[in-house]
Amino acid sequence: MTYDDIRKVFLNFFESKGHKIVPSASLIPNDPTLLFTVAGMVPWKGILQGTEPAFAPRVADVQKCIRAGGKHNDLDEVGFDGRHHTFFEMLGNWSFGDYFKEGAIEMSWELLTKVLKLDPARLRVTTHESDEESTQLWRKIASKEPIRLGDKDNWWSAGDTGPCGPCTEIFYDFGKEFSNEDDRWVEIWNDVFMQFDRDANGNLTPLPKQNVDTGAGLERWAALLQNKVDNFDTDLFVNLIHATEDVTGVKKTDENTPSFKIIADHLRAVGFAIADGVIPSNTDRGYVIRRILRRAMRHGQMLGHKGALLSKLYPALITEMGNAYPELAQEEKHVVEIIQNEENAFADMLQNGIKLLDNEIPKINNAVLPGEIAFKLFDTYGFPLDLTQMILRDKNIEVDIAGFERAMNEQKERSRADTKGTRTLWESQTKLTATDDHYKYDPDNALESKVLAILRDGSFVSKAAAGDNVEVALDKTNFYGTQGGQVGDAGEIIKDGNVAMNVTEAGRVNDVVIHKGILNTDLSVGDKVKTLINASTRQQTARAHTATHLLQAALRNILNEDVEQRGSKVSPDSVRFDFRFGRAMTAEEKQAVEDLINKWIAADIPVTHEEMSLDDAKKRGAMALFDEKYRDKVKVITADNISCELCGGTHIYHTGEIIKAKINKEKSISSGIRRITMSVGTLAE
Ligand code: ALA
Repeated sequence: MTYDDIRKVFLNFFESKGHKIVPSASLIPNDPTLLFTVAGMVPWKGILQGTEPAFAPRVADVQKCIRAGGKHNDLDEVGFDGRHHTFFEMLGNWSFGDYFKEGAIEMSWELLTKVLKLDPARLRVTTHESDEESTQLWRKIASKEPIRLGDKDNWWSAGDTGPCGPCTEIFYDFGKEFSNEDDRWVEIWNDVFMQFDRDANGNLTPLPKQNVDTGAGLERWAALLQNKVDNFDTDLFVNLIHATEDVTGVKKTDENTPSFKIIADHLRAVGFAIADGVIPSNTDRGYVIRRILRRAMRHGQMLGHKGALLSKLYPALITEMGNAYPELAQEEKHVVEIIQNEENAFADMLQNGIKLLDNEIPKINNAVLPGEIAFKLFDTYGFPLDLTQMILRDKNIEVDIAGFERAMNEQKERSRADTKGTRTLWESQTKLTATDDHYKYDPDNALESKVLAILRDGSFVSKAAAGDNVEVALDKTNFYGTQGGQVGDAGEIIKDGNVAMNVTEAGRVNDVVIHKGILNTDLSVGDKVKTLINASTRQQTARAHTATHLLQAALRNILNEDVEQRGSKVSPDSVRFDFRFGRAMTAEEKQAVEDLINKWIAADIPVTHEEMSLDDAKKRGAMALFDEKYRDKVKVITADNISCELCGGTHIYHTGEIIKAKINKEKSISSGIRRITMSVGTLAE
């Protein structure tokens, strides 16, 4: 069975069992606690937690995943066994409060033994030591006696907080001839029973519904269905390894096999991540992808190869996986360009790094290179630690590993600090209900509401006083909380006819809108209040947001159809827009874009706001952002035949409301990505 066959069999099976089949979500999760989509459940976290409604009771898909650089990190394993990957595809089925343990176990067993006809004698199962029910079910359904294990093996969660629960895992026995346990027994499916939500302090709260989250590694299924022990011996990887032999001119041997496996694996992670919009950089996920790319190049060098590698191999990835993932071919030009830029930059850095090292070597005491220098080489010049060690080994110099790790941890703290703030505190409030904020699209009148939570100086309080700097959650609001690049509304919270709080900005943590500001009167949890947004800043933000859509349309019109948004910040009367484009714009192009937008503004074109299914939106040709995941209903903002985009932001109703647009700056922010800043409205005038 090929990879394409397995995907089909899996999805057809679950479709026949009443599951809605949906496409893979992006590798970039809409979730600040995760760097990448690490499992099929990531896009459904809100549904599992009960903060987002389920669009279907049963769902199945094949999800692109990356496990590198976070809680789930397989990077160091890759290449040295046949079963680990940074990028992999996860087959998964979900029940959102529908079937539970019995249904999940029955269906897993039926698919494996009846449809795929695996020998039941070769399958073993584990359950969580506390999970009597699953243990009994395995005895009843499959006449299997589960091995019962503790939290380390049979308790699953995506991150440190969020939905979690006991799981039951199914293993395949490759046979007695494998004396090593890890080679012999391979986990092929994990059924997780999502029953709890874990907060930042580790407390478990039962979820409103009992859910099922399952995950099976497609690569492992391919191995056993193709009678291979090593995933890298399946058709897809064999072909990628042949392509690597062709590009490097080196044949695979027993000694160099890890390098070939690492290159094939890393090609998939880097290729898919960049196709989904990750840009190699020095922080967060961009940093992880840059490291993976350099690690692949380093292994290319170890094979004796010089120069570009992954950019030359990317077409082979399209051949192998482009059918299932059309985005690979659609994004080819940009992905190859970005990889090439990275490869060239790395070649330069290698030279500069060696220069730095040559300067440092004479200063070294006791034949030990200080950890900070090794880290600087790693961080600034992209030298993996093993490369530095290898260069120094010839000179009998060692590296201070502890110092290197200290510097590395400090860097991690710095990049984590960006996402900290009060977010984790709000996330720990798992009982807090989602804010009903659909009023944000029609915000004109004051809305009656109730105070649900008040955060002051890092703690939740039942009452705060005038002068306190607070963050407040309400049951309902007409404030737009910062999301999707649009900054949140400002306004007032009114109590007993007085302004109790001037809200400087409404933020958002998952589905809770957070009103931030300073209190004028005291405020208690349970107080009845009214929310009133500042209508003029709202109008300024709305016109800036619609202008952002016109900017994207004008860029595609004047530059080319490939221009695509990579990020944006929409504030009152001002727009920052990042997009993919390989060079600086000329002065004429900038003027032409600005003129076109102003022509559309002068024509006072109607802007429609509609809600529809994702399928209908796609049929209409609506553009979506790169971190979209499947949703039942989406909002579509259309300006005649000029622009049509999926967008949850707030917008005006006629382009004339924008008054005027003025492009201020256009510059590069990283390889292949440009940034435009633009003013609109009275600011542009
Ligand atoms: N979410 C579970 C896993 O990734 C199924 O193993």
